Amino acid sequence: MALEAETKSIVAKFDYTDDDVNKAVDEFLRQMGEGLEKDGTSLSQIPTYVTGVPNGTEKGLYMAVDLGGTNFRVCSIQLNGDSTFNLTYTKVAIPKELMVAKTAEELFAFLAKQIELFLKTHHEEQFVAHIRRRMTVSSPDGFRDENVFRLGFTFSFPVQQIGINKGNLIRWTKGFDIPDAIGKDVCALLQIEIDKLHLPVKVAALVNDTVGTLMARSYTAPGKTGAVLGAIFGTGTNGAYVEKLANLKKPLTGEYDKSTGDMVINTEWGSFDNQLSVLPNTPWDIALDKTSVNPGIQMYEKRVSGMFLGEILRLVLLDLVKNPNVSFLRDDNSNSNDWKSTTTIAQNSGIYTPWGLDTAIMSVAAADNTPELSTLRQELESTLNIYSPAYDDAQAFKAIAGAVARRAARLAAVAIAAIVLQTGKLTDPASADEPIDVGVDGSLVEHYPYFRDMIYETLRIIKGVGGEGAKRIRIGIAKDGSGVGAALIALVAANMEKNTTPADYFAELRFQAISHHLTTVPEDGETAATD
Ligand code: BGC
Repeated sequence: MALEAETKSIVAKFDYTDDDVNKAVDEFLRQMGEGLEKDGTSLSQIPTYVTGVPNGTEKGLYMAVDLGGTNFRVCSIQLNGDSTFNLTYTKVAIPKELMVAKTAEELFAFLAKQIELFLKTHHEEQFVAHIRRRMTVSSPDGFRDENVFRLGFTFSFPVQQIGINKGNLIRWTKGFDIPDAIGKDVCALLQIEIDKLHLPVKVAALVNDTVGTLMARSYTAPGKTGAVLGAIFGTGTNGAYVEKLANLKKPLTGEYDKSTGDMVINTEWGSFDNQLSVLPNTPWDIALDKTSVNPGIQMYEKRVSGMFLGEILRLVLLDLVKNPNVSFLRDDNSNSNDWKSTTTIAQNSGIYTPWGLDTAIMSVAAADNTPELSTLRQELESTLNIYSPAYDDAQAFKAIAGAVARRAARLAAVAIAAIVLQTGKLTDPASADEPIDVGVDGSLVEHYPYFRDMIYETLRIIKGVGGEGAKRIRIGIAKDGSGVGAALIALVAANMEKNTTPADYFAELRFQAISHHLTTVPEDGETAATD
């Protein structure tokens, strides 16, 4: 009984009421406005220089790489021009020591090496042709416009973007910490390492994963207007949306196409309300923040995303284990355990190790509706080395994990609602019959049972959205956004390159001629070299 009562009181601490939600939406809108006006605010509202979303007809072969969490992905994407694509990829775990390397070079050299491996494995023909060409061309400029891959670099950390393929790292998140890289252009860091290996690859576009998700959603599920928001609820969390240029008050330094009247904004909402004026703050949230590599920032992310939910839960459970007034994961004797054994927590259990509880077990807990919670209990054994947990223990675990996740989903709804409200689509008579499309990706929204349902349930109680508004908001998974989306932006970048100067135009013509083995195209009046 004591355990049940204590569990109830803990669950109540994770309540985020309808009133709290509505206050948070107002504050989110206020902080969005502030971020559009000046730099250095809690919500960064970073202009991406991407001024439109695709319509599904885009074509071409591009490369994309994705650095943003536990894995590094390298892919090539063939866009077929009919809303479909073919994607080839490899994925490698990023060694933990590289996440906190001394120099940026160590990390980026590793990334370039993976690109080389990928090209050798999947695009050997181009790779070999490139090496051959390098050896036959004598002038250093001679292979300038050869058959290089345009690469979209999905880099899912806050970056001050200064052009479509230029951006300086503002801060690391999600456990990365390489101070040497702060303030540096991450595209240049990657290009330098690619060039050291002489790879036929040009970093053409810098893309946040949320921007990629927005693009991919618009490419694959085109409506009349495309998606309005791309959001990630995975290891980290963030969203990018289409904003009217007129609302963007802070100065823009780089070149961009003004004709659409829009620009995609990377909100970096992980840092919404770092000042904690509306975010919930339990003792466990406080404890987690203290031990994180970035105390005081990414405060919304620390309550919403996969990297942190497991740790919040672990901290709560540890307190419960230590609480002398309740018996949690502890039996008087085998008779008080329904499996007629006694519970043992192994010394090496993840429950005793900071960050040792993987958020994935929360999905198992939520999905387990067996009468004895036997799936969850087996999972506690296999992943946390907690042997013979009793039914009561599993029940408490499930209730607390559920409360932590539910709070996260309600907070997720706050961000989605605020952005939908900001776009004005709900009240615009011109788009009254259209769905408002939101592309989402990430382990939490993909694998946590009912995460999307909990978001919808919350959207319905939000002022200005309500039941009718929630019905119009179409939240759909946009898989592989960071690959396809990055390829799409590399394509936009390639078109921008093409259209810049007449000299570039001739270079492009020469490139086309050379790569199709046509006759030479003169460059600025000279005779052009062929390979
Ligand atoms: C980063 C964002 C990213 C998000 C999701 C956050 O920690 O700051 O740039 O979009 O994680 O990957």
